[in-house]
Amino acid sequence: MHAALDDLLCDLDGLFAGEGDPIANAANAAAAIFQHIPRINWAGFYFLRDGVLVLGPFQGRPACVRIPLGRGVCGSAAERGETVVVADVHAFPGHIACDGDSRSEIVVPLLRDGVVLGVLDIDSPELARFGAAERSLFEAVGRAWVASSRA
Ligand code: SME
Repeated sequence: MHAALDDLLCDLDGLFAGEGDPIANAANAAAAIFQHIPRINWAGFYFLRDGVLVLGPFQGRPACVRIPLGRGVCGSAAERGETVVVADVHAFPGHIACDGDSRSEIVVPLLRDGVVLGVLDIDSPELARFGAAERSLFEAVGRAWVASSRA
């Protein structure tokens, strides 16, 4: 398990090296997460545009395009500026079901100098899939994406 986490961070170091395009780096981050992390069914980005989260690069089934701040797990994480880990999405009021197979979810805000740029969202078909190791990994991925992005 930890090898998968290390492999992901290692891959991202290489993928982000010398590249500052935020969309390209988000696309590669979503693909690397999807490839390295087992038992997930969606991984991707939403970007905050005029107070609404808009779908960015992702892997998985097609997803809802616009999520207002405060709505669902993504909107909650963006509004609070804090990671939200949901062990059972059916027990989360307002959860937005993009893929009926999803059972647990983690959403990490993308923060630059305290300003929310968007979120990184990962879903799993397994209950309580995301623990402390995954949380620190995906927060590191989020920080790496922010640091790599010039726009
Ligand atoms: N479940 C999310 C919506 C995005 S999809 O999972 C890709 C939410 O409740 O915000």
